[in-house]
Amino acid sequence: MTASAGAFVVRVAGPEDVPALHELWMAQADRRDWMPAASPGGLLPELDVLAAENRVWGAFRGGRPVAVAAAGELDGAMWLSVLGVARECRGRGLSRSLLASVLGHGAFACYPALIAFARPERGGFLDHVGFVRLDADQIEPGARNIAARYRLEPWARRL
Ligand SMILES: CC(C)(COP(=O)(O)OP(=O)(O)OC[C@H]1O[C@@H](n2cnc3c(N)ncnc32)[C@H](O)[C@@H]1OP(=O)(O)O)[C@@H](O)C(=O)NCCC(=O)NCCS
Repeated sequence: MTASAGAFVVRVAGPEDVPALHELWMAQADRRDWMPAASPGGLLPELDVLAAENRVWGAFRGGRPVAVAAAGELDGAMWLSVLGVARECRGRGLSRSLLASVLGHGAFACYPALIAFARPERGGFLDHVGFVRLDADQIEPGARNIAARYRLEPWARRL
């Protein structure tokens, strides 16, 4: 799907976009919050795998990426493992546009929900865009492990 948001184009990112998306991520001071449950290998291996499955989306300006979202799978649900917007491009609706693409993909693939994790002080954004914070007894083992290991709160949005 391609959508134009003013000067920005939001679209599925392919394997050829991965090096530039990784560069974008590396340049961000708050990159850990883009991928709260970061694996030791960083973002590149994850983007490589997910982009090959059309599960990475980017917002581009003049052909350069300024925002990225990626979604894997966890406990049978879709997992928003990466979401971030370059600081100078925030507040312009880019995360909403990316989320719309992720949600559309998830609904089409018949996932029951989109799961996300955030540090407790970062949950306000997820709450604002329609996610509900989950209690320990509402999550499956995979999500429970991630929440405990990285000290993150689990959130979900029904699809
Ligand atoms: C959080 C983040 C993705 C928001 O991106 P953005 O492109 O600026 O967001 P948008 O402009 O699309 O805003 C979407 C809505 O969320 C709201 N919002 C944005 N940041 C928010 C925050 N920190 N807390 C609460 N609400 C927030 C906006 O006001 C907007 O509301 P509206 O559509 O009702 O007017 C961006 O600030 C970021 O990359 N932060 C660092 C990484 C991060 O925290 N990722 C989220 C991991 S779960």
